[in-house]
Amino acid sequence: PAVLPPGPPPPLTFSGAKLVNDKAHPYKAPRPGDIRGPCPGLNTLANHGYLPSSGVATPAQIITATQEGFNFAPGAARFATYSAHLVDGNLVTDLLSIGGKTAKTGPDTGAPAIIGGLNTHSVFEGDASMTRADFHWGDNHSFNQTQFDLFVEYSNKYGGGFYNLTVAAELRHRRIQDGIATNPEFDLTAIRFFTAFGESSFPYSMFVDGRITERATAGLDMTNATLIFRDGKYPKDFWRAPEPTAGFGIIDIFNAHPIKPGRNENGVNTYTVDPDAADFSTPCKRYTDFLSKTVVKLYPNPTGVLRRNLILNLGFLYDAQGVIPDCPQVFPYGQL
Ligand code: HEM
Ligand code: MG
Repeated sequence: PAVLPPGPPPPLTFSGAKLVNDKAHPYKAPRPGDIRGPCPGLNTLANHGYLPSSGVATPAQIITATQEGFNFAPGAARFATYSAHLVDGNLVTDLLSIGGKTAKTGPDTGAPAIIGGLNTHSVFEGDASMTRADFHWGDNHSFNQTQFDLFVEYSNKYGGGFYNLTVAAELRHRRIQDGIATNPEFDLTAIRFFTAFGESSFPYSMFVDGRITERATAGLDMTNATLIFRDGKYPKDFWRAPEPTAGFGIIDIFNAHPIKPGRNENGVNTYTVDPDAADFSTPCKRYTDFLSKTVVKLYPNPTGVLRRNLILNLGFLYDAQGVIPDCPQVFPYGQL
């Protein structure tokens, strides 16, 4: 059925550390048919009942769950959720799959929209993930043990057995270099340029127990990393981050090995900078490109409820990103 999207739920009233692997949220393994995907955070929330175990959720449920279960900061939670929903979700039913495409999000609204869930390559999910393979190799969403072995190797080499900010910077660089050298279709442009660095910060900022205060330096141990990345399982007695957290240290990760957005244009080792791609110095362009190069390509000519819900979700996204100087809202579908 067509749904009027309710807009984002409010921030947490109590936003400190607390036990989140509690009696009300025990781990339950996914049952046949339940959907899991490329995001270890959302998989964990679905396995612990913060999200529907089906793996199909509304944007409001995802925002509530990531705030409650990991203390993801309200702005970041809204920004990630509405970005993903606009390109991967069903805008008429207000449902998003956290993994593959499914009829559980409702009937398709017509090509060229994909409505393929978070597994969909290149509109939100992208290359150089830490524990999932590049789409070129076939499976861009399942836990990949070989890549996790590299995660462990780097955590040992640069973090004394813990994934911390130093490890994040080195592994981020290595995954990008591996992609350039081995994946003929390697692409680090559009929103993936930003999320690649953001996600590298999440393990030490949100997978570390909230009772530990020196988070970036303390880092994540490999037992708990395995639980969350591979099994979608909170560690025993896990407490969420001590304050609303959007991932910190992202610019430090970037500055350790700066790179410009680009892609392999002609096979491996042909990484070519895209002079028309947004980077950290052009946050407004990130927003306007996401609309003009990604969303409008999927929805060139929407009508009716679809158009209305696109306008509403684009409004939630604009509000979510926070004030960017000289970055007025864009209305590709007009206003209500
Ligand atoms: C990766 C979606 C929140 C942790 C991803 C990916 C997607 C995604 C699509 C795959 C991107 C890629 O690596 O190619 C979302 C959405 C969220 C959300 C829509 C909504 C709020 C979170 C939160 C955490 C988290 C709260 C941590 C507590 C991660 C990590 C990765 C990731 C660590 C990287 C996995 C890897 O590189 O192997 N997320 N996510 N995410 N997400 Fe989330
Ligand atoms: Mg990926």
